[in-house]
Amino acid sequence: MRRNIVITGGAGFIGSHVVRLFVNKYPEYNIINLDKLTYAGNLANLKDVEDKPNYKFVRMDICDFESFYQLMQEEKVDGIIHLAAESHVDRSIKDPFTFARTNVMGTLSLLQAAKLYWESLPEKYEGKRFYHISTDEVYGALKMNHPEGIEPPFKTVASSEGHKAYGDDFFYETTKYNPHSPYSAAKASSDHFVRAYHDTYGMPTIVTNCSNNYGPYQFPEKLIPLFINNIRHRKPLPVYGKGENVRDWLYVEDHARAIDLIFHEGKVAETYNIGGFNEWKNIDLIKVMIKTVDRILGNPEGHSLDLITYVTDRLGHDARYAIDSSKLQKELGWEPSLQFEEGIEKTVRWYLDNQEWMDNVTSGDYQKYYEEMYKG
Ligand code: NAD
Ligand code: TYD
Repeated sequence: MRRNIVITGGAGFIGSHVVRLFVNKYPEYNIINLDKLTYAGNLANLKDVEDKPNYKFVRMDICDFESFYQLMQEEKVDGIIHLAAESHVDRSIKDPFTFARTNVMGTLSLLQAAKLYWESLPEKYEGKRFYHISTDEVYGALKMNHPEGIEPPFKTVASSEGHKAYGDDFFYETTKYNPHSPYSAAKASSDHFVRAYHDTYGMPTIVTNCSNNYGPYQFPEKLIPLFINNIRHRKPLPVYGKGENVRDWLYVEDHARAIDLIFHEGKVAETYNIGGFNEWKNIDLIKVMIKTVDRILGNPEGHSLDLITYVTDRLGHDARYAIDSSKLQKELGWEPSLQFEEGIEKTVRWYLDNQEWMDNVTSGDYQKYYEEMYKG
């Protein structure tokens, strides 16, 4: 069946993996990548699919209601997978307004345009879907009541040998929202708007909340690509606070597979948590990255440990994120495909093999190039 699907934020990290998966897996679909190309958007992430007949790129701001409404009509859009957002916590601490504008007002603008267009059709919401991608950070922070780690209650392919949980509570779909950073506050607000459009107007919406992603094409302001690049160039590794904060890491392609499954088979109005039961203290993860990069570059073991530099902690730094994704595993049969050490190995190799991509991103050259290409 032909579908006309807009994927917002498709030039970003996760979005580019979702676009690639959909374009390759569904040649009969019309996939429209809608992205403003902020500093985080990079069409070089999608070079391998840009010439496919079922792919189209549209440069647009999600806050531009009129243009999006027109696009919906022209393309007869019946599915929206919404990933476009400002996504970096540190930036949100410095510039919260941009986060409210894009994440809250941008999402609301898409919802309202979709509502007006879909309600104007004879079949209305039949066969339509508005799928909003969110984060586990909306749930707030979990306690680190087992700082040395305990046997986790669950295991998945993603969790490593000797894997631990650092507390006995997890984020469930029913966990009350309690966001702390301007980023998570804006994402929480957008999640509420999406649910409100279902509850008020009957729009067929779905929300998913995922843990930290890692893998190729992540902008190097985030921990994993930043540190791989810094280790390579023997630059300091700025560890916030004591490096004891815990994050639950999922390989980005496993998130993209979950999005595909939920878009097609998820129940309307439901929430699904996505994660790998794969908790890591930042400092332990950093040591794995150092070990992996040093081994691949032929450095002696421990060579780059001296780069670790403890710096002032992030304001309001959430102690621990850990997601319970058993609902998704039980109801839709999803599970991660990659063990964490394999994922890190693949990721490190990708960044080391794609230095040109990294250099373009860090120099801002790609941004200048697209400004030229799309000006006027
Ligand atoms: P990213 O920062 O790499 O990419 C965001 C993309 O959105 C970029 O291509 C950017 O150009 C685009 N964009 C930003 N503002 C826009 C606007 N006003 N109009 C149109 N496009 C705009 O982000 P990411 O890490 O790929 O995250 C994607 C989504 O997944 C976000 O909604 C984020 O909250 C969510 N998420 C991310 C993670 C993670 O670990 N990265 C985890 C869970 C959920
Ligand atoms: P990040 O990749 O920014 O993701 P998030 O804040 O959304 O979880 O950060 C992951 C963890 O790494 C987080 O606890 C903050 C920490 N961190 C550092 O210690 N140093 C850094 O330079 C960065 C970017 C992050």
